[in-house]
Amino acid sequence: MKHFEKSTKLDGVSYDVRGPVLEEAERMQEAGISILKLNTGNPAPFGFEAPNEIVRDLIMNVRESEGYSESKGIFAARKAIQQYCQLKGFPNVGINDIYTGNGVSELITMCMQGLCNNGDEVLVPTPDYPLWTASVSLAGGKPVHYICDEQSEWYPDIEDIRSKITAKTKAIVVINPNNPTGALYPKEILEAIVDVAREHDLLIFSDEIYDRLVMDGLVHIPIATLAPDRMVVTLNGLSKSHRVAGFRVGWMVLSGDKSGAKDYIEGLNMLSSMRLCSNVLSQQIIQTALGGYQSVDELLLPGGRIYEQREYIYNAINDIPGLSAVKPKAAFYIFPKLDIKRFNITNDEQFVLDFLHEHHILLVHGGGFNWQQPDHFRIVYLPKLDDLKETAQSMRAFLADYRQ
Ligand SMILES: Cc1ncc(COP(=O)(O)O)c(C=O)c1O
Repeated sequence: MKHFEKSTKLDGVSYDVRGPVLEEAERMQEAGISILKLNTGNPAPFGFEAPNEIVRDLIMNVRESEGYSESKGIFAARKAIQQYCQLKGFPNVGINDIYTGNGVSELITMCMQGLCNNGDEVLVPTPDYPLWTASVSLAGGKPVHYICDEQSEWYPDIEDIRSKITAKTKAIVVINPNNPTGALYPKEILEAIVDVAREHDLLIFSDEIYDRLVMDGLVHIPIATLAPDRMVVTLNGLSKSHRVAGFRVGWMVLSGDKSGAKDYIEGLNMLSSMRLCSNVLSQQIIQTALGGYQSVDELLLPGGRIYEQREYIYNAINDIPGLSAVKPKAAFYIFPKLDIKRFNITNDEQFVLDFLHEHHILLVHGGGFNWQQPDHFRIVYLPKLDDLKETAQSMRAFLADYRQ
């Protein structure tokens, strides 16, 4: 019998958010142990429901959605996305600059497949949402990590970005608001990134899937609005803001000056056609979702679930000896720092594995986000307060005598 090996294309590609620790959690579950899974930003299992209007519209449009659509998506959905971009001030977005996708995930892999020739470098943040790093590698490119600085609210370190540019650097990826840190970038930082892109002729990719999940009265600024003279590819979707991660609905928008990117755009069009189209039924809800009343807003205000859970977990984490965390301003993640000297920690994956075994709670280690030191982990703070309290109390008890 033939022996089927892993494709060598996958060498060096890692995606540890769904890695060995999750496998161990699943093994424990199969053995009858119940696990609190705080490893993915998936709102539905934590009792966040999709708005009724979305579900109604989905049902109303089932018959309309039986056939393939145009590869970039149905007109009404793309029109709604275009108008959303107009209201946010994106420059130069026509209907043909918009591609719908089966989640942002599909579009991340698509836009990197179309970009990278062997050895091309793409600047990606560390910590990052690891699909970006994995997609650059899978496409034959080389992810080069620039530091986001915990001392400065987790903002990208502009000097570090500059120091990592080479003749092979083609593009820079920005994740704003950020997963896993919950950071929201101010205008000055975004402008500085655009300046670097201008100086070195880089494409900008901006993952803005959390742009409707911002707290404390702050305002999200799309980097595209600061770069009318550059081509910016902005990605967004409904998984988080409308609590429909399972529907797989996202989009990608090309804005600004596209004159230097004709070949790349041709490649994107081909890749988009090759997968025929994204889920047509899911496209039907984009217009409803982006217009009118935004039910997510209530969750982000004092008294709302996401806001109150953020307040709780931020205070609880900072109250545990040996832990500290920057307050997240957006999304639903916190990325605490461990005092590794105090706990003698050298392996962050072992740390989350030990915690899983002892307390049956699944977290993701910092390395899962391409963070190089073994001194961070991520908590998804979507669970109800009682579960978050259990998590914080378990962590306090665990760290009281944990040494590696
Ligand atoms: C920053 C970021 N981008 C993209 C995604 C993927 O979203 P989608 O469900 O649209 O594929 C996630 C999901 O956690 C994310 O955190």
